[in-house]
Amino acid sequence: MTAPIIRKLPALRAEVSRWRRAGESVAVVPTMGALHAGHLSLVEAAGRECDRVIVTIFVNPRQFNNPDDLASYPRTEDEDARKLADYRVDLIYAPDADQVYRPGFSTNVSVSGVSEGLCGAHRPGHFDGVATVVTKLFLQTQADKAFFGEKDYQQLQVVKRLVSDLDIPIQVVGCPTVRDGDGLALSSRNLLLSAGQRAIAPAIHAALTEARDAIRAGADVTAALEDARRRILDAGFDSVEYLELRDAADLKPLAAADRPARLLVAAMLGSVRLIDNIAV
Ligand code: PAF
Repeated sequence: MTAPIIRKLPALRAEVSRWRRAGESVAVVPTMGALHAGHLSLVEAAGRECDRVIVTIFVNPRQFNNPDDLASYPRTEDEDARKLADYRVDLIYAPDADQVYRPGFSTNVSVSGVSEGLCGAHRPGHFDGVATVVTKLFLQTQADKAFFGEKDYQQLQVVKRLVSDLDIPIQVVGCPTVRDGDGLALSSRNLLLSAGQRAIAPAIHAALTEARDAIRAGADVTAALEDARRRILDAGFDSVEYLELRDAADLKPLAAADRPARLLVAAMLGSVRLIDNIAV
């Protein structure tokens, strides 16, 4: 059954209050729509852990540093609602823009540390936009648990940090990246790839896994990262924005994998920016 779509905050609040009075737990899965199996795995996890599930769909203008990227971001709400009908979703919150950013909106949530470097360095203002909208969605939905994919690993760390720093009473749950059979991490941006680009795209995951295996086998980290960068470019990517080994928790740069670490990459294929990461 298709879940009702709510566009106004008072209607969302009324529904959530009803659930709360009945003693039910509430999960939120924040999305920007263009739902794929990765999002649906979050919805499934949410349904396993909470009595009620809210999926939010809001293409947040504040997190796009590039107006073309915002304009071309896929918007597929009807199809998204149809996909969600196969899952236990109690409501879809697709707020009108003024329900999130009322006229005169002047607040910015900015997380330092984990948001610096990586995507933070290449997309100025992006994580402020994410942190601000996520804070609003947490406060608007008053959910007990929020589900995020590890594909956006830096985003996940930013959200965990802000929830801890601001004492927001919500548990942030990170869920594994869902991949196509050839290793490409599922992403709404994959819809923007041509057939030729789609054939090249799995090279970033292949390069990451090779670098991980080399590092595990004792290779020098700088040399392993350089090899991986070369493989990505040789496969047909136009540029590699970053390819780095970082501490898995605080995202500080690492020269050796002497603690739980993460390899993270962003690379451009034409005008499409793909990101991926794996544990080391
Ligand atoms: O990961 C996303 O889709 C977005 O960054 C999020 C968390 C929904 C905030 O707009």
